[in-house]
Order: sequence, then C-alpha cells, then structure tokens
Amino acid sequence: MGKKIKISAELEELVWEELKDEDQELILEAKSISNDAYAPYSNFQVGAAAKLNSGRILKSSNQENVSFPVGVCAERLLLGYAGANYPEDPVKKLAIVAKRKGEEEWASVSPCGLCRQTISETEMRFNQAITLLILTPQGHILKIPGIQALLPFKFEDLNG
Ligand code: THU
Repeated sequence: MGKKIKISAELEELVWEELKDEDQELILEAKSISNDAYAPYSNFQVGAAAKLNSGRILKSSNQENVSFPVGVCAERLLLGYAGANYPEDPVKKLAIVAKRKGEEEWASVSPCGLCRQTISETEMRFNQAITLLILTPQGHILKIPGIQALLPFKFEDLNG
C-alpha cells in the first residue's frame, strides 16, 4: 500500500457586511457587467471584475460561440485582457458572480479547470497570489486567498 498524501483547502465564507468596502465594490462591478454577458446558448451569465495593484478595475463577462468550445469564460477573457493591456500591473483580486438569464437569484459559480490554470499562470507571472471573491446564491462571499486552494498539485514547473 502506497503512502497516502492528503490535499485539503480551507475557504472563508463571509456575509456581505463583513466584506471590506473595496471588495464590495468589486462584487458590484462583477454583478453589473454580468448583465452584458453574451451567453445565448447557456443563458448562464457570468461577470468577473479584477482589481489591479494600481487600483484599476477591469471587468468582463462570458462570451459564447455557436461552436461551443470557442466561447470564453468571463475570468479567462478578463485575465487575458489584463495581461495584454496592463503587463506591468499585477492582478490583486478577482470577483466572480453568475446568474441564469431571467432569474432573480444569483447562481452558484466556481471557475472551471481552464480558468483555474489561467489564474495560476497570472499568479506565477506576477509572483503574487490573487484573492478570489465568489458570490454564492445565499448572497455570501467565498473568499479564497489564492488559486492553490482550488488547484492543488498544479502543473507549474517544466523543469521540476
Ligand atoms: N462560465 C464562466 O464564464 N465562468 C465560470 O466560472 C463558469 C462558466 C461560462 C462558460 C459558459 O459561457 C457558461 O458560463 C456556461 O458554462
């Protein structure tokens, strides 16, 4: 029998009032951009907002395609834009929210595998963990100190 290695993560769940003002602002920005999602195939409208070290806020929604794999998640589009346009400004925080079109309540959301790897790459690029803020259907916020919690044992070293 091989040695067992346990991988575990701890997430923090906060109520709205416990959030710092700047984190509330980032969630509100993500909520507002989610209304503009182009998601005619899934009707799942995702909004993402990033705060850079400079204080600049960037936003994106998901952009789908009739050829499904071509569509891009809100987070990945946002991090690509941030990296391309602000290559010297590290991403500090990333807020993510989602809603099904026509519904009142916020939906449960969590970054997909591709987005997790992209968040990881952005952390590696700037050597800085990205705080993730994810809105739950209960209106609580999952605060995650970096991608390590969501992507343990990740691929990160070509020479290791
Ligand atoms: N999606 C995102 O944009 N971000 C996530 O964290 C989860 C999924 C998008 C991809 C697709 O356009 C739709 O939501 C349904 O999967």
